[in-house]
Amino acid sequence: MNSNTSVQVINCGKTFEDGTQALQPINLEIKGGETLVLLGPSGCGKTTLLRIIAGLETLDAGGQVLFNGEDVSHLPVEKRNIGMVFQSYALFPNMTVRDNIGYGLKVRRQSLADRQTRIQEMLAMMHIENLAERQISQLSGGQRQRVALARAIAVRPKVLLLDEPLTALDALLRERLRVEIDTLLRSLGITAIYVTHDQSEAMALADRIVVMSNGRIAQQGTPREIYQQPSNSFVADFIGTANKINGRMTDQGFEVEGVVLPKSILNVVGGNSTSANPIQTQAIFRPEDTEIVSQDQAHFNGQVASTFFMGDRTRLLVDGISESPIIVETTFKQEISIGTEISIRIKDQGLMLLPDELIEDLPKEIVEKTEQ
Ligand SMILES: Nc1ncnc2c1ncn2[C@@H]1O[C@H](COP(=O)(O)OP(=O)(O)OP(=O)(O)O)[C@@H](O)[C@H]1O
Ligand SMILES: [Mg+2]
Repeated sequence: MNSNTSVQVINCGKTFEDGTQALQPINLEIKGGETLVLLGPSGCGKTTLLRIIAGLETLDAGGQVLFNGEDVSHLPVEKRNIGMVFQSYALFPNMTVRDNIGYGLKVRRQSLADRQTRIQEMLAMMHIENLAERQISQLSGGQRQRVALARAIAVRPKVLLLDEPLTALDALLRERLRVEIDTLLRSLGITAIYVTHDQSEAMALADRIVVMSNGRIAQQGTPREIYQQPSNSFVADFIGTANKINGRMTDQGFEVEGVVLPKSILNVVGGNSTSANPIQTQAIFRPEDTEIVSQDQAHFNGQVASTFFMGDRTRLLVDGISESPIIVETTFKQEISIGTEISIRIKDQGLMLLPDELIEDLPKEIVEKTEQ
């Protein structure tokens, strides 16, 4: 199988006829066999980028797409040897499962015997042997999605493109299929680009995540890097929950309205936070990096404004610390009532400084959001 095709996106921008600039010129490299996830809010350009890689969308002048170093920018979709799976299945409703899976093989004029062998392999791989003779209209959503995957993989594509393939399914099924897709992509060793706006899906599947905003790349990195070293406020907010505080870095630590948060709580994993940067003004910490402590150990004191019981933990909104309430999580079993005075500590390495210098490079609406 052609399992190790790399994809390079060079300077790829897209302006639609009505003037909408869906993609600013983007550069991106996907290694052979890698699973890359494009993650971002609705309208940020994920599908457009995927369609450009597929050859379903033309490029603005100056852009290029390379497969294994070879320029495919002018090759039509059917010559690029890709498999595609979409949110809306795009199966032939009145054909059987078997014929849907075999469709691409037939188009490629494979012999009947070869086709049947391959279809059987696909049915087994997706655990849908018992559905082979059914029509698509007689299947559930999860079953259809398996057929769509089987059909995409049947032709042994060089690159597999998936655009929100699980969005139409319920939470439990999503999770199960997500695990199956992960196993499948790893066993095939295929180069895959997976679009989603669901961050937990992205974290679970990705070797690397590209966070997009407004037609640009806001950050790319491993799931761990994106979560633990967000390079701007947009990414910090989009992946997980982030409490934001404004202050200033001094030799003693991060100073917020007269309180100095010691250097021991700075996250030094990313290197962003190691040097004392006098112009540093923004820091974030995640709810799970907080703990409720006695007053003498506290970094902040505040009052509980609301509580959300989430089963394994309780989420508290705490007033009196920052302009907007701070979100704290606790595994205390007892109920905490609204109005309770609590003392909060940020765990060691829980405070992440956001590098201000990157703000200039970001789109206008992110800068505005960051400056709030
Ligand atoms: N054919 C088109 N003509 C004009 N504008 C378009 C066209 N297709 C998409 N757009 C615009 O381009 C931008 C990016 O769209 P795209 O479909 O790539 O977003 P997306 O990130 O996939 O969003 P979603 O998560 O909602 O699927 C949007 O502002 C969209 O309105
Ligand atoms: Mg889309």
